[in-house]
Amino acid sequence: MDMEKVNSMDFGEFVDVFGNIIERCPLIAAAVWSQRPFSDVEDLEKHFFAFIDALPQSGQEGILRCHPDLAGRELQQSTLTAESQREQAGAGLTSLSAAEQLQLAELNALYRARFGFPFVLAARLSNRAAVPRELARRLRCPPAEELRTALGEVKKIGRLRLADLFGADPARL
Ligand code: GUN
Repeated sequence: MDMEKVNSMDFGEFVDVFGNIIERCPLIAAAVWSQRPFSDVEDLEKHFFAFIDALPQSGQEGILRCHPDLAGRELQQSTLTAESQREQAGAGLTSLSAAEQLQLAELNALYRARFGFPFVLAARLSNRAAVPRELARRLRCPPAEELRTALGEVKKIGRLRLADLFGADPARL
């Protein structure tokens, strides 16, 4: 895909293609469409991130709450988005032992109880051993810091998804 094509997309097509750059938040793509034309992928990404940054805390927490748990019920029930399924499989989270599943379920529940939103991590940059370690570490962070960290992970996930769509190197976005 190239920018000329993106800039010529009508609203429906744009939301179809970019609606899940931020997990289950097509509203963000809908808002970003109004900012076209985009000069390059970096410019497009900037608009997605600026929308997130401009939200009040309740909206930012809402974005996090649209994310499924890692290795959670939706993975078991095969109701994840295609992107999340691919990312969680890539991190090895689809082949956890029963003991590993239980450990993550317990940590996910503790995290959700403490912060009021699910644990979000760019799964593609992690693996099955690192996920519970990172979850346990972030559980001890102060809430304001944790909100910033979690939104940073949302942006990493979005950057990787955008890079996939454009066949780009995410490090160069
Ligand atoms: N990391 C990459 N994709 C996802 C997701 O769908 N949910 C969570 N919690 N983390 C992710």
